[in-house]
Amino acid sequence: MSRKIVVFDTTLRDGEQAPGASMDHGAKLQLARQLARLNIDVIEAGFPISSPEDFESVKAIAAEVRGPSIAGLARALPKDVERCWEAVQHAQKPRIHTFIGTSKVHVEKRFGKTEAEVLQMAVDAVELACSLCNDVEFSAEDALRTSPEYLRDVVEATIAAGAKTVNIPDTVGYATPWQMHETITGLMENVPNIGDAVISVHCHDDLGMSVANSLAAVRAGAGQVECTVNGIGERAGNASLEEIVMALRTRKDEFDADTDINTREIMNTSRMVSTLTGFAVQPNKAIVGANAFAHEAGIHQHGMMQDRQTYEIMRPEDVGLTESVFTLGPRSGKHGLRMRLEKLGYSIAPDEMEEIYERFLSVADRKRRVYEEDLHVIMRQAATEDMPEVWHLERVQVTTGTSLKPMGLVVLRRNGDTITMVGHGNGPVDAVTDAIRRAVEMEELEMADYSVRGITRGQDALGEATIRVRLGDEEAVGQDASLDVIEASAQAYLNAVNSLLLREMSRDQGVDEDAPDPHVL
Ligand code: KIV
Ligand code: ZN
Repeated sequence: MSRKIVVFDTTLRDGEQAPGASMDHGAKLQLARQLARLNIDVIEAGFPISSPEDFESVKAIAAEVRGPSIAGLARALPKDVERCWEAVQHAQKPRIHTFIGTSKVHVEKRFGKTEAEVLQMAVDAVELACSLCNDVEFSAEDALRTSPEYLRDVVEATIAAGAKTVNIPDTVGYATPWQMHETITGLMENVPNIGDAVISVHCHDDLGMSVANSLAAVRAGAGQVECTVNGIGERAGNASLEEIVMALRTRKDEFDADTDINTREIMNTSRMVSTLTGFAVQPNKAIVGANAFAHEAGIHQHGMMQDRQTYEIMRPEDVGLTESVFTLGPRSGKHGLRMRLEKLGYSIAPDEMEEIYERFLSVADRKRRVYEEDLHVIMRQAATEDMPEVWHLERVQVTTGTSLKPMGLVVLRRNGDTITMVGHGNGPVDAVTDAIRRAVEMEELEMADYSVRGITRGQDALGEATIRVRLGDEEAVGQDASLDVIEASAQAYLNAVNSLLLREMSRDQGVDEDAPDPHVL
């Protein structure tokens, strides 16, 4: 019988750290529910001490989502561990995941400590976590640049302190598959109490080897892989969940290991992550790219017609690839819509259906066909509906043309007061964002990034705008989709402004200013 590999999904924590990938509370809950349908073993729901929003999301996921273990991240500090426990304690299966950097550069440069001091911090954090929670994971951050002897000591000591899982992260994506194999084998052969814990691996993709490195670790005996849907994550991202899972499933002969993942939910999950984060999947991406199962060349098509196995190593239906045209139109009923949404992985409370249906009708009225991708957008918009808003966009209007200087007009509302403002720019989006910037009195606000993409096919595709803004050292991302890209851009820009303002307000309410990005070396 093949070994079961535990799949630990960190899309909601490490994936969400990708610049521009931030998800709001409603979106995170939707994704956590879908991860449960995917039959994931562990969901890392967030980093509770990092912000009140993250804390609330982890807490809500822990309280609602049944099936997977729900983990929260915590630095090896008592205040982090305690805050993490507060967030995950009501989960059916709570897990505290605590970590500290163990490479020389972390120990000496980042912390200004000795190896013995860092080891003691790791042990103290694990002991504290074990006094609160039955399931504790420890990560030796930057393990692949840690001296093998010290790494062994840390692994042995944290297992002795009670960690049930010890994770070996390649934090900076530096490892090769051979080195990873050797590192895990070295731990398996030299750490006396290794049998008392599951060894895990967590790879980043800076050199494009994260999946290969994860698989090399599995071959060497790792029992857990940490990964993200679509491989999203900071910099080049994390190891991609769907690639690891399908490699293990398709090449059982090589690994003698498999997962419990319901692979037929892979496409739904991938599309949901893409819509919720605004990160498009490249067409040639393995497993979930639009071309992953497309056979264009005549010679391939001919071979496929005779026997699918000629050119196909996996069946599209095994990853849940189905025809994505949604055939209902403006006269479709609520029942049909609900069934389709449920098939896509969304669970809808009875009191939410009316509003979702209204949104569906307003899209269906303006489009000839509604695609699955449109439904993902409708669901994201419905999920963000209850988000607190500082400024509300009432109206947007532009005048532009070949010999005209583009002019934008916006009407915004805040606390019942309405303001109308005009702006100018090099193009219609520039003019509208200029008007918003003036209205909200944030003259120094810079547009760091702007992209717009068609979500579905054809002339009547929804256009999705993603905008990153910068104010001094602070950045925020806003997104919106609409049939009108100017409207989507204005709303995306205002969403980014609102997110900056909300962050400022929550800081005023006293957040841990010291909570770092876990990847800052
Ligand atoms: O990459 C990394 O080292 C991490 C740890 C916090 C597990 O994300
Ligand atoms: Zn990471």
